[in-house]
Amino acid sequence: MVVVLKLGGSLITEKDRRETVDEGALGAAVDAIAGSGVDDLVVVHGGGSFGHYHAEKYGVSTDAGTRDAAAATAVHAAMKRLNDAVVSRLHDAGVPALPVHPFSLCARDGAGDLTLPLDGVEAMLAEGFVPVLHGDGVVHAGKGVTVLSGDELVVRLAAGLDADRVGLCSTVPGVYDADGEVIPEIRAFADAADALGGSDATDVTGGMAGKVRSLLELGAPAHVFGPEGLEAFLAGESPGTRIRG
Ligand code: IPE
Repeated sequence: MVVVLKLGGSLITEKDRRETVDEGALGAAVDAIAGSGVDDLVVVHGGGSFGHYHAEKYGVSTDAGTRDAAAATAVHAAMKRLNDAVVSRLHDAGVPALPVHPFSLCARDGAGDLTLPLDGVEAMLAEGFVPVLHGDGVVHAGKGVTVLSGDELVVRLAAGLDADRVGLCSTVPGVYDADGEVIPEIRAFADAADALGGSDATDVTGGMAGKVRSLLELGAPAHVFGPEGLEAFLAGESPGTRIRG
């Protein structure tokens, strides 16, 4: 059973304090992962106050690139610092996590298509490790370096690894409807279109609407939930919003 889990950057970092890990939230997520019996788990984490701060500073987004190598390296280095923190907390909890840095692995062509070789991730899973990827910079034909979101990685990993389940754990308990209630299930974008606005803090990779659109295209069920739902998700339950196209 392959499970792809994203820990949102806003969950594991203090989004308004530059490069600050939310130790309580990350610790709770790590404990839930350590206590779960998932065989083949791939973790992806977002940028929060690490990647997004630097991306905004240099005007880099999924669409706008930079040709300034130092700027691109600053975005990547911040994400590596956060990845180091996540991997080391996982080690402390006994999880055999290994870092995977997409910047060195991926490329995007002029049409926007992403190349993501999965041999290394597959080999890690086969050896019993837990690969930990992250939103990052990506070299982008014609644009220099742009941002690669953790959400896009989740979708690509889920498709490429034929994942059985996908989880997006963030600070909200699910996808809200127009009345602020969590929608239990989304089968088509129209189910949630009225309620989907933008993200409320600095987020160069877009908010919930984009997540829902891409998750609807997956062959596997995806679940959007908050930290209180992580244990249940890893136990095979359906906390928050279930998205299945
Ligand atoms: C962003 O990744 C990575 C960078 C800004 C370099 P995500 O877009 O997946 O991060 P969060 O989860 O929204 O913080």
